[in-house]
Amino acid sequence: MALLEIKDLCASIKGKQILTGVNLKINKGEVHAIMGPNGNGKSTLASIIAGKDIFEVTKGEIIYQGQNLFDLSVEARAAEGIFLGFQYPVEIPGVSIKNFMMTAINEQRKYKGLDPINAIEFMKLMQQRQKVVEMTSDLANRSVNEGFSGGEKKKNEIFQMAMLNPTLSILDETDSGLDIDALRIVANGVNALRSKDNAIVVITHYQRLLDYIVPDVVHVLYEGKIVKSGTKELALELEEKGYEWIGKELKNT
Ligand SMILES: Nc1ncnc2c1ncn2[C@@H]1O[C@H](COP(=O)(O)OP(=O)(O)O)[C@@H](O)[C@H]1O
Ligand SMILES: [Mg+2]
Repeated sequence: MALLEIKDLCASIKGKQILTGVNLKINKGEVHAIMGPNGNGKSTLASIIAGKDIFEVTKGEIIYQGQNLFDLSVEARAAEGIFLGFQYPVEIPGVSIKNFMMTAINEQRKYKGLDPINAIEFMKLMQQRQKVVEMTSDLANRSVNEGFSGGEKKKNEIFQMAMLNPTLSILDETDSGLDIDALRIVANGVNALRSKDNAIVVITHYQRLLDYIVPDVVHVLYEGKIVKSGTKELALELEEKGYEWIGKELKNT
């Protein structure tokens, strides 16, 4: 059984149709890249999986671990192992990364009927995961995203992912602001966390991130649906020929 299966997903916002029939199947152990021109629905797809309710699903279904995803609340989705890296991370003044993570982990444990995490266990986990993203204790003690540089925000995002150990991670990378340091942080984190027990979806406009994270499958999301899937070579082909090539190809078939 696939970890995630999306069938003919159509969705709109304020009466405007954005997704026009997305089909996608993701198995555990896989890293998928979703590429495509700006404004074609990549972030919309991520938001719908994570459970943001500003979009209206008009058709289709999403099956996650055998369950209808739309039957699960946002909290339930997170507790069931879905993680969405924030495209625009929010600032939470007065709450340290450390305390924020403690709360997030305990919310998930509560959902599963478990006791709060023991303080020593938590500190061990923190230290271990901080290494993955090369995060200093100084940063972990600062308020979430307050005055963070782009690179620090990325570190925090991947650190959250590492702490929560999600089964399905969706990292929606904005097209701007990913400098070489941020790219390296995201890539190192993803590469350290990829395993046979999880799946990771990296959404990106540019091919360069995929020089660092080698995906098993590359998809092109174009005009609201996945129009092409292939191996990592597809990303290189896109880089070379540009997205207009996809449009022309579709017209010819
Ligand atoms: N909150 C919103 N209100 C109105 N339109 C939106 C909103 N969010 C996204 N859209 C529209 O949905 C389309 C797809 O956007 P998006 O999913 O962000 O594309 P991508 O991530 O591929 O760049 C765009 O035309 C965008 O303007
Ligand atoms: Mg986007």
